[in-house]
Amino acid sequence: MIKLRNVSKIYPNGARALIGVNLKIAKGEFVFLVGPSGAGKSTLIKLLYREEIATRGQVLINNVNLVRLKNSQIPALRRNMGVIFQDFKLLPNKTVFENVAFALQVIGKNKKEVKESTLTVLDLVGLSSKVNAFPAELSGGEQQRVCVARALVNRPGILIADEPTGNLDVDTAWGIVDLLDKINKYGTTVVMATHALQIVEQMNKRVVRVEGGKIIEDKAEEEVRLGI
Ligand SMILES: Nc1ncnc2c1ncn2[C@@H]1O[C@H](COP(=O)(O)OP(=O)(O)O)[C@@H](O)[C@H]1O
Ligand SMILES: [Mg+2]
Repeated sequence: MIKLRNVSKIYPNGARALIGVNLKIAKGEFVFLVGPSGAGKSTLIKLLYREEIATRGQVLINNVNLVRLKNSQIPALRRNMGVIFQDFKLLPNKTVFENVAFALQVIGKNKKEVKESTLTVLDLVGLSSKVNAFPAELSGGEQQRVCVARALVNRPGILIADEPTGNLDVDTAWGIVDLLDKINKYGTTVVMATHALQIVEQMNKRVVRVEGGKIIEDKAEEEVRLGI
């Protein structure tokens, strides 16, 4: 489903963010991307949703090479992909319902579909009682749940998260990770970059360690569980 072949990313200022990265992620996997600040995690994630373009190599999503993707094909790519970030990026003047519904309205879904899908996904993330609240009226954890709902409302095959718990306390962070785990169990592939080592250690998922723009370790779920 996701394949990086010999991928390098050099930014225009000369920063070598990724060097010769090879990575394969199968449909339905849950993968943590870990590594120190500046390692290249966010760059790798940005290549996956075509926010950045690889300088060398291939980035394949369902056999489509994003390096060669036309700009006009980007919306179709992103429709199969939900993305969440550390800062919540919610629209402050829209309610919870409107923030999530917006993602469907822009792709031309009719009113009934928008309402049904939005309420279903807000129920999934546990926010049924907050549909009419504004972002500023919510806790950080609740705001991140709205972002998860917004990312999922199109029913994407892949959910990508860049430090989604970076602004949350430990308990709230666990709530978000448990939610991502539940979503993964329904079949969505999840790729999550994180600094939260305690969470990574306890989750028994595949761990890909990035350092200096290279993958220096890739531990399968089974190895993590057995502590190999
Ligand atoms: N837009 C950019 N322009 C230039 N250099 C960048 C840009 N984004 C990231 N970098 C550089 O690329 C390297 C990897 O950064 P990043 O992917 O953000 O790492 P991480 O998410 O692991 O902290 C760093 O050296 C960073 O300074
Ligand atoms: Mg980052």
